[in-house]
Amino acid sequence: MSSNNRKGRIPYPGTGIGEYVDEAFTVQGFFGPWANVFRHRNLAHPVAASDETLVYQGLDAAALAPTDAAAADGEPLQILAGKQSAVAISRRSAPAPFAEKLVDRHQIRFYHRGEFLLETELGPLPVGPGDFAVIPANLIYRERPLRGDPLVVVFEVEQPVVLAEKLWDSVGFAGGFVDYSEMELPEPDPEAGPGEPTRVRIRDEGQWHSMDYDFDPCADVVGWLGDPVVYKLNVDAVPGIGTTSGFLTPPANAVLYGEGREFFFNVLGPRPFPTTPPPRGSYGAPSHQNDYDEVWFNHASEFAPQTDAHLWLLPRTIPHPGLKRPPEYPENPVRQIEELKLNFDTKERLRWTDAGRAAFMADPQTALYTSFYGAHIGVVPESVRALKKA
Ligand SMILES: [Fe+2]
Repeated sequence: MSSNNRKGRIPYPGTGIGEYVDEAFTVQGFFGPWANVFRHRNLAHPVAASDETLVYQGLDAAALAPTDAAAADGEPLQILAGKQSAVAISRRSAPAPFAEKLVDRHQIRFYHRGEFLLETELGPLPVGPGDFAVIPANLIYRERPLRGDPLVVVFEVEQPVVLAEKLWDSVGFAGGFVDYSEMELPEPDPEAGPGEPTRVRIRDEGQWHSMDYDFDPCADVVGWLGDPVVYKLNVDAVPGIGTTSGFLTPPANAVLYGEGREFFFNVLGPRPFPTTPPPRGSYGAPSHQNDYDEVWFNHASEFAPQTDAHLWLLPRTIPHPGLKRPPEYPENPVRQIEELKLNFDTKERLRWTDAGRAAFMADPQTALYTSFYGAHIGVVPESVRALKKA
């Protein structure tokens, strides 16, 4: 489809910045047709809504108290749920008295804080801050906390998780972008014995069950060969991307995705600094209307450390406001910038659970700037600071 239409007045390029709000209207999760619209006001800021979850909402994941934080046989706390996917927070402080198996959902477990030994049927895998481990449905695992204050974000999906390397195949060698060769696989102990009798806690179609063995399914394997069915990567393997004029969409940062593009797991490190001045260049995202739901999690927040572990759902029911500023060069010498957001986009609608709703931040239209962007109080008109019930 050609993107060469221009109607009305185009005050400056869509990559740039000026006196209007520029909004990217997109479909198919940023992979379909789009229109860059220049308008007077930002649709992301209504004065009233009939349901607060029509608007973006955020919470501090570190303030949640999943039952696995206090009890070895506890569970993660689910905060967002759909028919085929979910997001939960786990803060396991002691090994569970059972191994676990989710029959119908694959998992991407993101380790925000704490170090663990992730024991699996294919051997143990040490995991720590910035790691994300993919565990396929039906694989038995047990997470053994080792040290640090644990905080894990669990993304559950029904569609098989595939590497987003596939999205780059059309441009051939792009190995400098995500280095999948940094993937680490579990390594079984060739001298492993059968281990202790073990109960496996099983979740099948939302129901909990158990199965007992007189050995440990995560300890009795001496070797395996085949594909990387369980693996981990670290956010350090994912460079930030952009253009000389500014922004690239979040799914351009995809590292994993659902086989049928039902979801995208995007890692957004610090973006390169654009070299094009306004009005053609800008730094930051435009306002945009996405037709996928977006879950965001602040993993590293050097410039706004108070926003660490803040989690947001930016739903499809409202445009996301964006925040652009003129580009600037950083000072030399270059250094590592510790800023990193995770972004999980889903084709299916995610809904806040009661536990999620109970933890909402006040005044989401302002908090979106102070918490999500970790910036100033934003460009919210005074009239919309307190969202009214429509
Ligand atoms: Fe967004």
